Amino acid sequence: MNILLVSASPRRAKSQTFALARRVIAGCKGAAQVETVHLRDLKIDFCIHCEACHIHCMRCPVKDDVYALLNKMLAADGIILATPNYINQVTGALKAVLDRSAHFIHCKRLLGKYLCGVVTSGSGSQDRLVLDYLKYYGHVCGAQWSGGVSACAYAMDGATPEALALGGKFVEDIETRKRYPAQIKIIEKGKAHFHEIIESRKELWKGEYEYWREKGWL
Ligand SMILES: Cc1cc2nc3c(=O)[nH]c(=O)nc-3n(C[C@H](O)[C@H](O)[C@H](O)COP(=O)(O)O)c2cc1C
Repeated sequence: MNILLVSASPRRAKSQTFALARRVIAGCKGAAQVETVHLRDLKIDFCIHCEACHIHCMRCPVKDDVYALLNKMLAADGIILATPNYINQVTGALKAVLDRSAHFIHCKRLLGKYLCGVVTSGSGSQDRLVLDYLKYYGHVCGAQWSGGVSACAYAMDGATPEALALGGKFVEDIETRKRYPAQIKIIEKGKAHFHEIIESRKELWKGEYEYWREKGWL
């Protein structure tokens, strides 16, 4: 089992969010392999909306580290997205990654995978907005959400049991291929929506049309 932790704080090892995410990982008993990526160590530019990744899947004229990360996400069974709350959103560094992964949304590239979220903030309030956004991102890419944990950066210890439990649940979800019926409904609805879009833009988004055809989804 491969678990990928994407840590979106610029503070790397000093990050409180990373510290909370490490508690989630401590709860991931039996996980074969956990890899951590600090976005601060990568060069990832903004999406330029050229649509090249829809014409040729997984190809982008912006040459940076984004595909090294996107390929790790594709290889993982479970992805932990850990981000500080920046004005009730993910950090800009993480948003840049998510924007660059638009092809994942069109082709539901995270189908069969599990996602969980880790958020810290100065106030400890409104973190639900950030976790909900991460959950939304997982669903539009086809992934099921195992859950999220959040904490005020100055009172992290209280969240330790929840973080450990989340890690355990995450591993169990991956191992048992857990199906959350309500989430599957949302994911299937999103897929049906893109079925229409992919059909109607087949001349434009040739690569993605071909991907859907090869999957037998058309
Ligand atoms: C640009 C920026 C925006 C922030 N916005 C908020 C916010 O809206 N609400 C909040 O409670 N804390 C906010 N904070 C505080 C961080 O969320 C908090 O310190 C967090 O624990 C930092 O995580 P890290 O140590 O993993 O980088 C902000 C910090 C920065 C630098």
